[in-house]
Order: sequence, then structure tokens, then C-alpha cells
Amino acid sequence: MSNLENLEFYREQINVIDAGILRLFAERMNIVSQIAAYKKENGIPVLDLAREREKLSEIDCPNARRLMTAMFEISRDFQSEKVSSGKTKILVVNGPNLNMLGLREPEIYGKRTYSELVDFIGEVCAEKDVEAEIVQSNHEGVIVDVIHEFVLKNRSNTGKSAGIVINPAAYTHTSVAILDALKLSGLPCAEVHLSDINSREDFRKVSYTSQACGKTFAGLGFEGYKQAIGYILEILN
Ligand code: DQA
Repeated sequence: MSNLENLEFYREQINVIDAGILRLFAERMNIVSQIAAYKKENGIPVLDLAREREKLSEIDCPNARRLMTAMFEISRDFQSEKVSSGKTKILVVNGPNLNMLGLREPEIYGKRTYSELVDFIGEVCAEKDVEAEIVQSNHEGVIVDVIHEFVLKNRSNTGKSAGIVINPAAYTHTSVAILDALKLSGLPCAEVHLSDINSREDFRKVSYTSQACGKTFAGLGFEGYKQAIGYILEILN
């Protein structure tokens, strides 16, 4: 067999395999579409990082892992387009100790609780016809993960828009990791503080995260979140 015939022989085998892969891929996408409809109906988020990680951990071959990663990405983008409400999406992140509002130094942060804050933000978003995702965490890495997930989910929201409102709480004054996550998001960001950080201890006057935020709303209590959401919408429009 000549070299050329050899190559042809191999290519024919590849063609048969590719046709099989594409047929299976189409079948897979068909099921992905049904999953998207199910998630939409039941309000389940598109991204399930834990499942993706678990599936990847079962694959030994690095190239097969790359292929699977690409498939996850395609499926996720496809599902996001199907599930998306078409509304502007705002991620509201609250950092450490904010879950203790009401109990926590009420003379500084007020008597209202965290669940009252969540209701307040929910009402503001409903008024403005915005879809809100409100998250609180006491852990720096979790906040970074939450931002990543929001970015990945909204990456394929072509023609739609998204932004981030964040009260990083104590991490405001220390966290390069959260600053970097906000920066990589490429989304409009606003920082909120219930108290006026500029009239408190000197260490609170330094904000790492504000470097990624177009504006900071401090000392306005709950109202700061409303203004921050308004600011994000102004930028997006
Ligand atoms: C805060 C101000 C931060 O300095 C502090 O660490 C917080 C709350 C605020 O909302 O006023 O936890 O972000």
C-alpha cells in the first residue's frame, strides 16, 4: 500500500467513527434540551458544578477529559439560552457576618435581619423587573466560586445583560481573590456597605474590591442595595 492509500484507509475509519460520534452527540443534545425544559419548569439552575466535577473525576484520559469539558460547555450554553427568562440578571453577594444582621452590632448595622434584607432586595428587583440571585457566604473561596458560576451561566446570554452588586463585608479590606473574580467577570459591578466605612476605623477605609466596582454605596443601610441595583441598570441600559 502506498503512503497515500494508507492515509485514505485511516481516514475512512475516522469518518465512520466521526459519524457515530456526531449521531450520539445529536442524541445527547436532544436529551440536554429535555433537561433544560425540566430545569426551567422546576426553577433549577443550569450549572451543576458538582456533577460536572464528579463526571470529570471518573475519566482517566486527559484528552477525553478535554472533550467532556467542551461538551459540558456546549450543553450549558445551550441550556442557558433555553432556560433564560430574557430578564436582566443581577447577582447580589453578601459577605461574612452579614447573615447575623439584626443581632450583629445593631448600633452600626441596624436592627433589621438578613432575611429582611433579602426580602428588600427581592422587592427592589421585582419592581425593576430584574431577576435576582442573592447569595450570602462567610467563606472567601465560596464567594469566588459563586461569581465564577454566575459568569459562566451568563456568558451565553447574548443580547441580555447581567451585573453584580456586592457587599464583600470584611473581605472588602483584604481580598485580592474577590477583586480578581469581579475583574474577570467583565460585568458591571457595584459595591455596597450598610455602614459608612470611611468614617470608621482606618483599616475599613481601604477597599480592594472597589477597584473592580464602578461605584460604592456606603452608609445608606438597605437603601444602598437599591441604589446599587439602579446604578447597574443605568450602565446596562
Ligand atoms: C460592611 C463594612 C465592613 O467593614 C464590615 O467588615 C462588614 C460590613 C458594611 O456593610 O457596612 O462586615 O461591609
